[in-house]
Amino acid sequence: MLDEGRPVYAGCSGIPSGINRIAEKVLSGGGVPEELVPEFQKEVYSFYLEHSREMPWRSDPSPYNVLVSEVMLQQTQVPRVLKLFPGFISRFPDFKTLAAAPFADVLATWKGLGYNRRARALMQTAQIITCQMGGVLPSDPEVLESFPHIGHATACSIAAFAYEAPVVFVETNIRRVFLYTFFPGARNVNDRDILPMVRDSLDIANPRHWYYALMDLGAVIGLHVQNPNRRSAHYSRQKPFSGSDRKIRGRVLSHLLQAGEAAEYDLVETTGVPSDRMSRILASLVRDELIKVENGRVSLGD
Ligand code: ADE
Repeated sequence: MLDEGRPVYAGCSGIPSGINRIAEKVLSGGGVPEELVPEFQKEVYSFYLEHSREMPWRSDPSPYNVLVSEVMLQQTQVPRVLKLFPGFISRFPDFKTLAAAPFADVLATWKGLGYNRRARALMQTAQIITCQMGGVLPSDPEVLESFPHIGHATACSIAAFAYEAPVVFVETNIRRVFLYTFFPGARNVNDRDILPMVRDSLDIANPRHWYYALMDLGAVIGLHVQNPNRRSAHYSRQKPFSGSDRKIRGRVLSHLLQAGEAAEYDLVETTGVPSDRMSRILASLVRDELIKVENGRVSLGD
């Protein structure tokens, strides 16, 4: 049974009726997914023609713009990235500028995006590209995956968007489209079962636009049905931010951005976090190369 509920499939949901028709066929046993691929491609593209989202990293998909945007989009919603991406690009317009920047500047420009480890990772990647790769971002997803904080889905997104590589992968929006369309009602669906369908339906000649289209459709599906990704074997909820170590890490970094440096006991006092917890958090920030501690003084990494 559909755990998204019938009314959604009955239409007026914002999800293209053609996609709902395919899901109904799958549900009623009226077609195996391979037979539905041409119809699926047609429906996805006609949705995209009408509803594609404008994004600066799409209108100028340079390898640098694509890398920066994909790292930002890993854990930050599109509207927030749309707001903060232009400022980051005008401050750090290319790999060379980002590689040479003081970390404090990169962190300050990253403000509002959260998960600050990514700012450090992006800067490290820019340093690798500049110093070891002649300033050229590789197109091979396996090489991309060797860079800090770049996992399989990000590496494949970069290869598809920057270089039109016909890679086969799923990420959250793509997964949502396939779960909704081809696995209505199924539970605990493994990406292993989804990937062959991603492969068989891929528009090999136009991977960039095909994956943009899937991501846009996945975003719309996410707005209209209770998240189908809950039916993925890979689903996990984001932990609450309030009171989390992540929030305290952010406060420590903000304090250091303003103050330049601080003693550990200052940080305990400003944040009200017990000193044993603060020590643990500082150790994790040192491990992530976001801060350094020298002679009891804490400061941002170089
Ligand atoms: N367009 C390009 N990359 C994207 C992403 N990661 N999420 C949503 N839309 C995108």
